[in-house]
Amino acid sequence: MLKPEIIKELAGIVGAPNLLTSPEELVVHSYDATQRRSLPWAVARPGTAVEVSRILVLANRERFPVVPRGAGSGMSGGSVPVLGGLVLSLERMNRILELSEEDFLAVVEPGVITGELHRAVEARGLFYPPDPSSSAFCTMGGNVAECAGGLRAVKYGVTKDYVLGLEVALPTGELINTGSRTIKSVAGYDLTKLIVGSEGTLGIATKIIVRLIPLPESVRTLVAFFDSADAAARAASGILAGRIIPRALEFVDQAALGAVEAYLKEDISGGAAAMLLVEVDGPAESTERESARTAEILTRAGAVRVHQAREEEERRRLWKARRSISQALYTIKPKKINEDIVVPRSRVADILRELGEISRRHGLLIVNFGHAGDGNIHTNILLDDADLPRAQAAVKEIFAATLRMGGSISGEHGIGLAKSAYLPMEVGPDAMAAMKRIKQALDPNNILNPGKIF
Ligand code: MLT
Ligand code: ZN
Repeated sequence: MLKPEIIKELAGIVGAPNLLTSPEELVVHSYDATQRRSLPWAVARPGTAVEVSRILVLANRERFPVVPRGAGSGMSGGSVPVLGGLVLSLERMNRILELSEEDFLAVVEPGVITGELHRAVEARGLFYPPDPSSSAFCTMGGNVAECAGGLRAVKYGVTKDYVLGLEVALPTGELINTGSRTIKSVAGYDLTKLIVGSEGTLGIATKIIVRLIPLPESVRTLVAFFDSADAAARAASGILAGRIIPRALEFVDQAALGAVEAYLKEDISGGAAAMLLVEVDGPAESTERESARTAEILTRAGAVRVHQAREEEERRRLWKARRSISQALYTIKPKKINEDIVVPRSRVADILRELGEISRRHGLLIVNFGHAGDGNIHTNILLDDADLPRAQAAVKEIFAATLRMGGSISGEHGIGLAKSAYLPMEVGPDAMAAMKRIKQALDPNNILNPGKIF
């Protein structure tokens, strides 16, 4: 609990209307997309970096937890105030501060919705490629905290590949600037990369400078259906082996297709066992060529149907379906454990086969979909409470198989609360100790997002 004098001091920093303590406000700031929840003691909505910094100074003095929050759409519990304390919502800091066509960059506050940045830069013929499925509602600050990946990572990379620099409020309250407005900079340790993906445990980004590229001239979208998941996975590898790097190469299995079709009340797959959704982009002539070659590869790889979505409306429908899978899975079972494993691209068919065996061995419904092009598969165990012990055993086997193949337990959702028990499996004791020393050095009183990662 926060003492009344601290509540008063916080209200003095952010203004009384931006310090929320009603039970309703505490509930709506208590959860993220993992279904985990824990009530904060209060919620502050600062409007400036200086206010963020003053809150952190106060938290160190009074030793209360501060949990940064964007849209609360995270998939690993990163914004859940598991130890209570103060939720620091960045929703008011939502301005695009600069869009420089000369320097190919944008400067944004953390509360900017990613999809709004997309629209703003695309209106100027520029492109910010990272595109999480949740881009209509997730925020740039959350994307930085978790190093969001998304649908276009196969060709364009992830958030860390675009962040040039940050203004960061350190856990002890200092405001620092990392990186610069340039592509090149080797001035000291790369604090930008340290902060991106640190899950709100090492600092709070109060300003974000991102690199932009020219908007690709044209895009072609193809959809292919298969009579087995294995055939679809092999076809995905076939596209890459053909030296085509699509901007999206998404895999969806039969159960995920069924769930999203029921959720959106439309038939997409005609009952197929798996789908690939592929998108190529670039100059018009090369896009045409790549799209024709991709269709050829898909057909040769055994697709039962390959179709190019020529109308914008059809593209929009297909992507809406893909982006809705996460929510749609709740139509099958009340709970899910959503894993986020990533394997080297050449091992996608192998990991899907192994996931099938794990599912059969434990008698669990495991649904798979995701970014086949970069090896990042969202493997979801759908369950009732009674399935939980078997599901936990299955998770361990899934991670062991992933690591055996040279992969990682989290491609883009982060460790947060959901995977903290498994992080040592991947990084080992010495790397764990090094990470803890970094945390201790920057946050000696462990006030910033405590209980996450470790
Ligand atoms: C996605 O790719 O749709 C997201 O990462 C969400 C999810 O894994 O459910
Ligand atoms: Zn994803």
